[in-house]
Amino acid sequence: MSNGSNETVFSALSKEFLRVVEEAAIASARTMGLGKRKFSDQAAVEAMREAMRTVPMNGRIVIGEGERDKAPMLYIGERVGAETGDGESGFPEVDIAVDPLEGTNLCATGSANAIAVLAAAERGGLLNAPDMYMNKLVVGPAARGCLDIDAPVADNLKILAEKLGRTISDLVVSVLDRQRHEKLIADIRGAGARIQLISDGDLSAGISAAVGGSGVHAVMGIGGAPEGVLTAAAMKCLNGEIQARLVLKDQLHAEDHGKVTDDAETVARMKEMGIADPSRVFTTDDLAPGKHIIFAMTGVTDGKVLRGVRFFGNGKRTASLIMTTLPHKVRFVDTVHVEGGPETVIRF
Ligand code: FBP
Repeated sequence: MSNGSNETVFSALSKEFLRVVEEAAIASARTMGLGKRKFSDQAAVEAMREAMRTVPMNGRIVIGEGERDKAPMLYIGERVGAETGDGESGFPEVDIAVDPLEGTNLCATGSANAIAVLAAAERGGLLNAPDMYMNKLVVGPAARGCLDIDAPVADNLKILAEKLGRTISDLVVSVLDRQRHEKLIADIRGAGARIQLISDGDLSAGISAAVGGSGVHAVMGIGGAPEGVLTAAAMKCLNGEIQARLVLKDQLHAEDHGKVTDDAETVARMKEMGIADPSRVFTTDDLAPGKHIIFAMTGVTDGKVLRGVRFFGNGKRTASLIMTTLPHKVRFVDTVHVEGGPETVIRF
């Protein structure tokens, strides 16, 4: 394997990443309901990093647990994989965005839609997005290219309804339940659509919006930028779309001010990461420009798209979604991790 830019290499890697997200999901699912979100996250991070060690790649974390001085594991820039560092192994060069536990509160409270997730691509294939807020508009294939994040909400919903062959009142928009969304929620209600307010997890909501039959037709509003890049990777595989814009502190509600750094510092960080215009709109391809995208996720708690980890006497069972752009495959993987002896019964 020379440079990792071929289908066979990335197809093989996707199976390795299946194992990585499964391990992270199993470890965090063990902590479900303990009420300790950081502990749950730590369990996922440690398991993901350990599983990543043996993946035959020259991997680099581009979105992770934070900057090197703040996060001991899976920090931005950390080298991961079986490549030992001399670059002589011939393993493919891979950029990786991880969220070992997306929805830490959801896991801590045993609520729906906690997932372990990562995206990977050839070098430079995923935007090195700063850890800040991002305004997002996510839709599925039917409305791809038809909406505009800067247009009034009512206009976007009208087009979305037309594209989906239904009335606005049949639409469901998923929105994070935050004070910063007061106006957005009023606008969606004013337009006549239905709303699903979620406590956390706008990444899995985005995936729901892009797949048929989930009962969710769009995601709107401000969530994390790292989740935005992961959503973009998923949209490339699902033929959906995300439009996004980074959000500075002065555009946020006061309740969020404590969570973000001051704007001057953030703008400097954005520049460092190659983002010259803080107000630019990012497309799916801007966020995940790679040709060889891999998206891997395993359910931690039961969710709309995937079931959570189930533990039984002689093993455990995981449900995962593994997707690649080249070859273009979407795999739903149901794994029974058998730990018992020959008497172990495997159920349908
Ligand atoms: P964690 O996994 O870090 O707990 O994040 C969950 C999440 O709800 C994301 O899905 C979302 O993008 C972001 O947090 C929203 O941030 P905030 O809770 O600060 O509004």
